[in-house]
Amino acid sequence: MSDFKFLRGPKDWWRQAVVYQIYPRSFSDSNGDGIGDLKGIISKADYLKTLGVNAVWLSPFYPSALADGGYDVDDYRDVDPRIGSLEEFDVMVQELHSREIRVFVDIVPNHCSDRHVWFQEALAAGRGSKERDRFIFRDGRGENSELPPSDLSSHFGPHGWTRVEDGQWYMHLFTKEQPDFNWDNPEVHEEFLKTLKFWSDRGVDGFRIDVAHALKKQLDPLPNRSSYSLEVMKDDGTDPLFDRDDVHEIYAEWRNLFNQYDPPRVAVAEAWVHPHRRAPYASEKGLGQAFNFDLLAAAFDADAYHDIIESNLEFSASTGSSSTWVLSNHDVIRHATRMVIPGYGESADGFGSENKWYVEHRMDNDLDLELGLARAQAATLLILALPGSTYLYQGEELGLPDVTDIPSDQMQDPQWFRGEGKLKSRDGCRVPLPWEPTGTSFGFGPGGSHLPQPSWYAKYAASVQDADPNSTLNLYREALALRAKLITEEQLSWQESASGTLLFERPNGWLCFTNFTQHEVELPQGDLLLHSGVVSGGKLSGPATAWLKR
Ligand code: BGC
Repeated sequence: MSDFKFLRGPKDWWRQAVVYQIYPRSFSDSNGDGIGDLKGIISKADYLKTLGVNAVWLSPFYPSALADGGYDVDDYRDVDPRIGSLEEFDVMVQELHSREIRVFVDIVPNHCSDRHVWFQEALAAGRGSKERDRFIFRDGRGENSELPPSDLSSHFGPHGWTRVEDGQWYMHLFTKEQPDFNWDNPEVHEEFLKTLKFWSDRGVDGFRIDVAHALKKQLDPLPNRSSYSLEVMKDDGTDPLFDRDDVHEIYAEWRNLFNQYDPPRVAVAEAWVHPHRRAPYASEKGLGQAFNFDLLAAAFDADAYHDIIESNLEFSASTGSSSTWVLSNHDVIRHATRMVIPGYGESADGFGSENKWYVEHRMDNDLDLELGLARAQAATLLILALPGSTYLYQGEELGLPDVTDIPSDQMQDPQWFRGEGKLKSRDGCRVPLPWEPTGTSFGFGPGGSHLPQPSWYAKYAASVQDADPNSTLNLYREALALRAKLITEEQLSWQESASGTLLFERPNGWLCFTNFTQHEVELPQGDLLLHSGVVSGGKLSGPATAWLKR
């Protein structure tokens, strides 16, 4: 691979980076087939540059039957022909690198797709074969193996085991099209090292690791489980399915590979574990960084935010990692909507799949979206001022609400189908972006859109917001440009402020003041740099955030 694709720079570039998540199928479509593609991403490289992000993370773009939005991977070292080709991938990396935007790809190591060549070989080779040993095949219970080997449900509803023609069963923590790998098999280790090397050699700068806590399992006796809530997951490294201590042996191997590159490749773990167990994923000997999803689950409340920020900064100081902040991604309700759904933030699983409050309010047209947007902007400006890195999700820079009225027969998310109406659908945050106020797909592409776009999308279109100095898009641009200038050591100190507000200062005198209430409050002393909401007579409306400089 020639050298031009590599973006060199300091080893610790990732510590305070702004990473923008692209959900490729829904970002930009160049050929009008209704599915976003790599050429679409290339066409938006200047948009990303103007937005001011330091890196993009691409959700899976690999060949896939889309049983789970691409998290069912047929081939880890190729591009879905509907999305592009490896050559186009190289061009995309080059175009982004030339604009100093780094590239992360998504690695899905817990499971592949049932169309993956290894799984097909496992089916053909039969019981007891070395091909089956790459997965978790077992005989069933009952006289004729007619009952599943254990009482295991999957994340997306019933059944964690599926039976194959010769009577054996295989384990899958997600859909039946996503067989789990057997990480006790050295061949699986080698295969993933090969994949990580493949993308690293192509110039990829970092990796987002899907369900990083699930790879190692204790299968004797076979586990039973009917809920995936954190409450039932052991928190001492001995849970049979998740967050086992020995999973870190895998990441030590990966780190060894990452460190052979200059600058070393970076990684961020998606690990839904007990907060005190996050450290090893984020350590320098492991993946280096782990998502902190605490704010996703929290109510929009000054005390809750204060405590979460405090504990996460302590945590990152103890691991030597840097904090990650995230308010939206492809699995959760967009924060401009979530923050005004009644009941949101009241329970620890506030954002999880079993959130009854969301299912109840999914088609609720009375949500106060103006308040939602004001809260979303306030929360975003707050996290952008914190020490650490920020992960943004495509479309949040437009202030997009979730699409709450996708007809059931047009939903794509397996969580919806398998959850029998009890689990939320994640399609509402995956609807293709509006780039223009008109056209067959609001400028997403020259054709249609693989998920229906609502008519109200027009007013959120990027081109409309581009022309409006007070738009959410221009607020994000201004904030990212300022942040780049203000970025300083990874510390903050809390300052006294009125109830319902938070004020902190970074070492260079950069102040961030958030008003969580719905009434105006006095601004602190300092030169006003930027704000959401309205400032008048020395007061900031609520909810809103202001940045100032002492
Ligand atoms: C991804 C989901 C996906 C699941 C299974 C998650 O963590 O973010 O979108 O359904 O892993 O791969």
